[in-house]
Amino acid sequence: MKIKNICCIGAGYVGGPTMAVIAHKCPDIKVTIVDINEQRIADWNNEDVSKLPIYEPGLADIVLSARGKNLFFSTDIEKAINEAEMIFISVNTPTKTYGVGKGMAADLKYIELCARQIAEVAKDDKIVVEKSTLPVRTAQAIKNILENTGNGVNFQILSNPEFLAEGTAIDDLLHPDRVLIGGDTDEAGQKAIGALVDVYANWISRDKILTTNVWSSELSKLTANAFLAQRVSSINAMSELCEKTGADVNEVAKAIGMDSRIGSKFLKSSVGFGGSCFQKDILNLVYIAKSYGLNEVADYWEQVIIMNDHQKRRFGANIVKTLYNTVSGKKIAFLGWAFKKDTNDTRESASIYVADDLLYEQANIAVYDPKVKEKAIYRDLNYLSTRTEEENKKGVTVHIDPYEACKDAHAIAVLTEWDEFKTYDWQKIYDNMKKPAFVFDGRNILDEGALRDIGFIFQGIGK
Ligand code: UDX
Ligand code: ADP
Repeated sequence: MKIKNICCIGAGYVGGPTMAVIAHKCPDIKVTIVDINEQRIADWNNEDVSKLPIYEPGLADIVLSARGKNLFFSTDIEKAINEAEMIFISVNTPTKTYGVGKGMAADLKYIELCARQIAEVAKDDKIVVEKSTLPVRTAQAIKNILENTGNGVNFQILSNPEFLAEGTAIDDLLHPDRVLIGGDTDEAGQKAIGALVDVYANWISRDKILTTNVWSSELSKLTANAFLAQRVSSINAMSELCEKTGADVNEVAKAIGMDSRIGSKFLKSSVGFGGSCFQKDILNLVYIAKSYGLNEVADYWEQVIIMNDHQKRRFGANIVKTLYNTVSGKKIAFLGWAFKKDTNDTRESASIYVADDLLYEQANIAVYDPKVKEKAIYRDLNYLSTRTEEENKKGVTVHIDPYEACKDAHAIAVLTEWDEFKTYDWQKIYDNMKKPAFVFDGRNILDEGALRDIGFIFQGIGK
């Protein structure tokens, strides 16, 4: 079975880049990405690729190479479903904010809506691919909806979780460590798996394409994110101990990372992990474990989140303590708002929570981020509902010039590890700040010695 037409529902951080790369690498396949959000689709179609809705290094070139040839962005969801032999579901699955499982379970309402729409529209057999990260056994729910609502056509459900990380999405998609495809073990399931393997085999060697049963695939994605987040929480836990004992967390990370059993990646101590995946997926894992009565398993993973929350909170608390126990009326400049460098995504960014804590202490916050727009910053703060929108507007200013953001500040907090922060004229920044001038480097990226020589009072994480 050869795939000629692919539809992807959801033009977000996962669907957009993933489909752009498939279209770029498979010129014989027509790829249509659809979304209910008209503005988002218009942005993807913008002539000026600097206005794409997502910032990712390399993404604009890939989109330009295929858009209008075999890559299309559209709001006509029904047409795209009908034309496609293979439909990827790549919609968001946020943590539930209501009802049973509130604050823990994944909200599957968008997934269910997609499944119902596919079932209503489809006139011939389809392969439906779960791309969104989902609780284990979601494929069964999708199958039930498709089979009971559909027009009598056959559906095969595959799980094909995405392992790309934002900021390096294009490279991760072009050169993945592995691709994982889960499907039914019967003949029809294997045929569907084979069709998707053939798509990826256009640019990925077959020995890197793993095929499993559908439940293993679904659970592997949650497990991978849980293990990665656990590494960050583990090194962050050690960072606090380093600060008390005189050890340096960077030296500790290097020393343990050279042990090939541990490995050196994902051991950077920080102000806490953010992003749309780690917290959501672990909470979901905890919820699933609890629902099977596995309380020890649930408690074990929940600790990763507890540690992360603590790391964010103690960063803000340390700023207050160091600034003589009050930041009321003081200007604190935030360098970075995104949850990591090279992305404009701010979901669950540590900066939001640190800002919230400092606003509670009546600080004035001045934010500069090279890629995050002002409206996203206010949206993030307003979403917390800690205070009114007017109060957030009053407490936070957003700048397009980092030197302006830092001018007359009592302290600078580095929240995101953007490379450009390292090359600023720190003498100029120092000269324009209130004295004593403090720097709290939540990412350990600045040259501590050089900043101390200039006169800054410098505090990194875990030192
Ligand atoms: C993650 C997974 O890496 C990816 O495989 C999955 O598909 C989606 O979730 P993402 O959230 O985009 O990707 O970025 P990632 O690089 O994993 O970083 C997550 C957070 O952890 C960021 O806030 C980052 O700054 C932080 N982090 C990461 C650290 O604090 N220290 C590290 O050593 C690594
Ligand atoms: P992710 O990081 O998982 O890609 P995003 O929030 O960036 O998440 O993207 C998900 C996209 O899915 C959004 O653009 C949203 O509008 C879209 N979406 C959600 N539900 C539907 C639906 N039923 N049909 C089409 N698009 C949808």
